[in-house]
Amino acid sequence: MKNIAIVTGASSGIGREFVKLLLGRNELDEIWIIARNAERLQSMVTEFGDKLKPAPMDMSDIEQIKPLSDRLKNAKVNICFLVNSAGFGKFGSYSDIGIDESVNMIDLNISGLVAMGLVCLPFMSKGGRIINIASQASYQPLPYLNVYSATKAFVRNYSRALNVELKDRGITVTAVCPGWMDTAFIDRGKTNATKTVSRFVNMTTPDVVAAKALRDSLRGRDISTYSLYVKFNRLIAKFLPQRFMMRIWLRQQGL
Ligand SMILES: NC(=O)c1ccc[n+]([C@@H]2O[C@H](COP(=O)([O-])OP(=O)(O)OC[C@H]3O[C@@H](n4cnc5c(N)ncnc54)[C@H](OP(=O)(O)O)[C@@H]3O)[C@@H](O)[C@H]2O)c1
Repeated sequence: MKNIAIVTGASSGIGREFVKLLLGRNELDEIWIIARNAERLQSMVTEFGDKLKPAPMDMSDIEQIKPLSDRLKNAKVNICFLVNSAGFGKFGSYSDIGIDESVNMIDLNISGLVAMGLVCLPFMSKGGRIINIASQASYQPLPYLNVYSATKAFVRNYSRALNVELKDRGITVTAVCPGWMDTAFIDRGKTNATKTVSRFVNMTTPDVVAAKALRDSLRGRDISTYSLYVKFNRLIAKFLPQRFMMRIWLRQQGL
């Protein structure tokens, strides 16, 4: 049996930071890295070594995820870590983001994440860890980021419920809820919308968020939040009416 980790969204941002952290874990024989761009995955092998095994796919298409099951079976693996980081958001109003992009966000952030977990779970055992990247956006509805914030609310709630269901197998699920991070996510999110998200308050770097998330996962926590700002946001979202939270958000964005 080979001990492996699987990281989706591994070629950039917080996914790439997880790959670097997991390379330091001696119990892992291989780290399977997933994203669409095969060349970028291959360049990571050149940079970090052949412990990394690329598995390029578009995770917004679950038909591309399902065959991974056979590959896992043939490779005889025990998955120690699954990090689900692939995801994107689009900034702007409902009318600026077309049907295809809106639905694709749901396909990747929700369906892709759920399908990847279900494909991997048969190959996980006691001590296995799933780390799902949700967002600070999961704490409240966010106008002009409406589909994205709703997908992340799904990821947070789903992950916490799955964590309870997996207790008897000794597998933990952690929902990571980062605030803004300085990654390619921001550029992919931009649209030509006139009313849009443009103020990225309390921006941080993905390395510190990933390090805290891995620590929290190893401690068995079901939620991981980095920075006092995000923790405060999480706290007030529990007590203030969502109407009020949305007003704060709109004012912060100048909308
Ligand atoms: N950055 C932020 O401010 C922020 C804040 C909170 C939460 N998050 C969440 O953090 C996660 C990672 O975002 P990031 O900031 O690290 O963004 P990023 O730098 O843009 O990285 C996204 C990664 O996902 C991959 N990816 C994108 N679409 C994919 C698809 N359809 N199938 C497979 N892989 C795909 C990308 O590679 P390819 O393009 O080659 O596919 C890339 O490796 C996301 O779930 C995001 O929602 C980000």
